[in-house]
Amino acid sequence: MNDRTTERPERMRRSAPGDRQEPDPPPLAIPENPMAERIVGAAFVAALLAGFGLLGVYLLGGQTQVEAILLTICLGGIGAGIIVWSQALLPNRIVSETRHPLRSEPDEEGGVLAAPAITRRTMLIRLMAAAFAGLGAALAIPVFSLGPAPGRDLFVTPWRSGLRLVDDQGAVVHRDQIPMGGLLTVFPDGSPGSADGQTLLINVGAGLLQVAPDRLSWAPEGFVAYSKVCTHAGCPVGLYRASLHSLICPCHQSTFDVLRGAVPTGGPAVRPLPQLPIKLQSDGTFVALGDFTEPVGPSFWNIHSGG
Ligand code: FES
Repeated sequence: MNDRTTERPERMRRSAPGDRQEPDPPPLAIPENPMAERIVGAAFVAALLAGFGLLGVYLLGGQTQVEAILLTICLGGIGAGIIVWSQALLPNRIVSETRHPLRSEPDEEGGVLAAPAITRRTMLIRLMAAAFAGLGAALAIPVFSLGPAPGRDLFVTPWRSGLRLVDDQGAVVHRDQIPMGGLLTVFPDGSPGSADGQTLLINVGAGLLQVAPDRLSWAPEGFVAYSKVCTHAGCPVGLYRASLHSLICPCHQSTFDVLRGAVPTGGPAVRPLPQLPIKLQSDGTFVALGDFTEPVGPSFWNIHSGG
């Protein structure tokens, strides 16, 4: 408990002429408390071990509950150590003195600089630094979780010129499988089920599409192919209202006009579904004429251009 004391110093402060001389308070004593020192040391050691233990658990594959417990011990150890230190090992006496000129005399400044080192606190200070090192090790985990940089992976899909369109089982798709107004999810041959290669092949019928002439040639006889990955947040666009020629994303209800190049007509998506250039072969199967001409999925890559 703090005790308020009135100081009765032996030597007097020198001050400017005319100032009332005030007594100097005695130096504050550092409390001797070996038990508190052991507690502080133990808390910092626990924090240190828990921090590096957390890093070790993460590197060995991770276990959420254990990681949470170790992080709690790490943070709690540092907090407990600091609290006990401040309460039991620092002079916390409240001292009152009347106001005097704030400037110290040269010999007093020298006295402060020459004060003896608190050597018995050295170990605790080092332990506290080590505990923070353990916490730093634990906080480095998010950096390791970033994973490898995606590079250009987000800008390309498995589609290549000449690859046949297949279904999710890898079977080659024939035009007869898709009646007028129907659609089928297709993939590049060799990559059935690929997340970024999934594409909707829709039979809208000849003469209805209202797209640029170069893109019209990508949709032979009214078969048009659009990326199935929503340009809002990447959900699969799986619903089609044939009567309205409208694709609907079930996640946030973005709608896309199939006849006008899959431009968004409602919902949060702001970018059309990329169109895949395809060719209808004489045997009724389809091949791609290349990859999508722009990245599929969310528009992170052109966000600064308003796309
Ligand atoms: S992911 Fe399609 S509308 Fe949000």
